[in-house]
Amino acid sequence: VNRDLVATPPHPSKRISDAVAANPDVVNLTVGEPSFGAPAAFLDRLSALVADGRGDPAGEYNRYAHSRGVAALRRAIAASYRSRYGLAVDPDTQLLVTHGAAEAIWLTVFTLTNPGDEVLMTDPCYMLYEPITVSLGRRPVRLRTSAGGGFRLSPEQVEEAAGDRARLLLLNSPNNPTGCVYDAGTLAALHAVAAARELTVMHDEVFDDYSYAGAHVPALAMDPQAERTVMVNSFSKRYGMTGWRLGWMLAAPAVVAEATKAHTYLSLSLGTAIQEAAAGIVGDEAVEREVRAHAEVMRERGRGFLDRLREIAGFGSVPAEPPGGGFYLFVPIGELAGRLGLDREPGSISIAVADLLLRTAGVAVVPGNGFGPGGEGYVRMSYAAPQERLDLALDRLRRCLEPTVGAH
Ligand SMILES: Cc1ncc(COP(=O)(O)O)c(C=O)c1O
Repeated sequence: VNRDLVATPPHPSKRISDAVAANPDVVNLTVGEPSFGAPAAFLDRLSALVADGRGDPAGEYNRYAHSRGVAALRRAIAASYRSRYGLAVDPDTQLLVTHGAAEAIWLTVFTLTNPGDEVLMTDPCYMLYEPITVSLGRRPVRLRTSAGGGFRLSPEQVEEAAGDRARLLLLNSPNNPTGCVYDAGTLAALHAVAAARELTVMHDEVFDDYSYAGAHVPALAMDPQAERTVMVNSFSKRYGMTGWRLGWMLAAPAVVAEATKAHTYLSLSLGTAIQEAAAGIVGDEAVEREVRAHAEVMRERGRGFLDRLREIAGFGSVPAEPPGGGFYLFVPIGELAGRLGLDREPGSISIAVADLLLRTAGVAVVPGNGFGPGGEGYVRMSYAAPQERLDLALDRLRRCLEPTVGAH
């Protein structure tokens, strides 16, 4: 059995997600799945394709798609970079359609590094970055970010940490779990360091449309030829389509050519009909309006959730300002752990608090240290769930935590 894979532990939140799956009564604030669902335009188009295909068993949708992805979809994605940011992307050589952003991240690490190479990532960071790196026999280098600095990575940190074997910097903006958003100036400075150290910057921009602090800036804008940049994105968050498993990778032609080989050896290609249907919604004006409206609802939902959370005993010291992007709250739990007598828990306060909230309030959250040691002392709460589930979670937290006032 693959030694590197055996050495990669299952994710620490798996225990919590198993508990959620086993009990539908639990309010699940662990997953980032927008409650809006796929755009009607996508579903209508897919239904029409399927209806057409019934009469034609040898038809196109029963056949393999191109390994790089259906041409119409690649063209639509390329056009969206031009219309959103004025960036020219060649749909034939610079794009690869993938099984969600998750596969695109895996392909980026696999394609751009060799065993033993170092991959730089923030601490905390999205939970797939480290296991992908370790299971491929590459070495993760964690760069600590903290609440005091807005969880923003500084160019100086990269400069200091990038050794001879460093090849790749994994950036995520808007960020999961912290909500940090990188502005153009910081991205440009990070790019300058990356160029000096011969690193490629991967920008995971899956939360691009949930950017509340200003317009989203893709790292590609700092390097329009994508000489040292890989963009990773997907339909999951933007369109509320996590279950459809559709994403993409954008990079220099030589990188995409190699990544396409890996993608082909892994899975040949993605489903044809879903790609054809998806091609119709990228850049569609009505769908874009819908997405913007959803992002606005999400921002309001986050604001309301945070305000009410801060009124609950133990959460009073959570910062009043909502994060700049995404749909998670990264909640410091020092005060709560103190109230609950969990602050001396050996090893992990985050896990102890998450376990207790699950057991006693029936509310599932992710322990912060699941995102790296820098996440210890936090739990992540997703506010992407429907409003009534969020209301229920807040009611249960209040009922569960209020009686402990003065008990410790
Ligand atoms: C930062 C980040 N990147 C990538 C992904 C994976 O997205 P996809 O569903 O497109 O694979 C997620 C999912 O939560 C995420 O939060």
